[in-house]
Amino acid sequence: MNPVRHIGVFTSGGDAPGMNAAVRAVVRACHYHGVQVSGIMGGYDGMIKGEIRPLGIRDVSGIIQRGGTMLRSARSARFMTVEGRQEAKRQLDHAGIDALVAIGGDGTFTGSEVFRTEHGVPTIGLPGTIDNDLSGTDLTIGFDTAVNIAMEAIDRIRDTASSHDRTFFVEVMGRDAGFIALHSAVASGAEYVMVPEREQHVAELVQALQQQSATKSSSIVVVAEGDEEGGAFAIARQVKEQCPGRDIRVTILGHVQRGGSPTVTDRILASRLGIAAVEALLAGERDQMAGVVNGEVLLTPFKEAIGKRKELGGELMRALSILAI
Ligand code: F6P
Repeated sequence: MNPVRHIGVFTSGGDAPGMNAAVRAVVRACHYHGVQVSGIMGGYDGMIKGEIRPLGIRDVSGIIQRGGTMLRSARSARFMTVEGRQEAKRQLDHAGIDALVAIGGDGTFTGSEVFRTEHGVPTIGLPGTIDNDLSGTDLTIGFDTAVNIAMEAIDRIRDTASSHDRTFFVEVMGRDAGFIALHSAVASGAEYVMVPEREQHVAELVQALQQQSATKSSSIVVVAEGDEEGGAFAIARQVKEQCPGRDIRVTILGHVQRGGSPTVTDRILASRLGIAAVEALLAGERDQMAGVVNGEVLLTPFKEAIGKRKELGGELMRALSILAI
């Protein structure tokens, strides 16, 4: 196995607060260990276009507190083709990059897996997604910030909901994952949550709201964007049909959850994992994702991190229904 001499770092998929902190940690750890490091701009698309530039220690100054990603990001259609991946490998060879740190979510690591089988470039992944839907880590980089933004927004909505005796449907992000929805719902004292991981029906929601009406004049229902009953507007419409007397409003939080300064949890997680990724590559580890499980840094093969669905806490679902009575 050849020693790693030059690491390329990139961010891919939806940006997440804390990605910059992760890039900073990767770059500084490389310099600390005497390894060359370059940033690949715009994810896999930038790799294919050869948008690669060396990163010095001071190139990552002043970014730990910034949301978004200084390396930019993309969801690349070209990388899904054999020709696109061949071109990406050609550009990496041209730049002299012999290992990668990929910061992203399941789509990013699916790409890494295919790239590995075809071209064998050693890669370590860092879980960078607000969705928290990767196995092999208790938290993904960006989740804590996103869920805090959602919670604060729901707190504000609570003020106006209770002032007007209204039922609010608040849609949060998470196309296929209900972690943001469930955690923000429990943390803000919401009355109900709808998540893609559970089969839930509007009839059950209506029943719960009607029971609660005996003692509550306002309600908040948190809906994950990907819920199979439809988004918040679709669910609100169905509830209105069954309960015409209810004063209903809908708020879609959207991309506001992905921006802004990362929390202390995300900054520290990203910093620890960035160092861990570089040290794993130098120790000869490949094709795994670095995560933190029970406080310890741990490596999990990509296949497992993306192939095994992360369990949405049944205990938290139960807690919500107990606390919302
Ligand atoms: O995966 C992160 C995420 O923010 C999901 O929660 C959301 O469903 C999706 O990305 C939105 O993607 P885009 O920014 O491409 O609209």
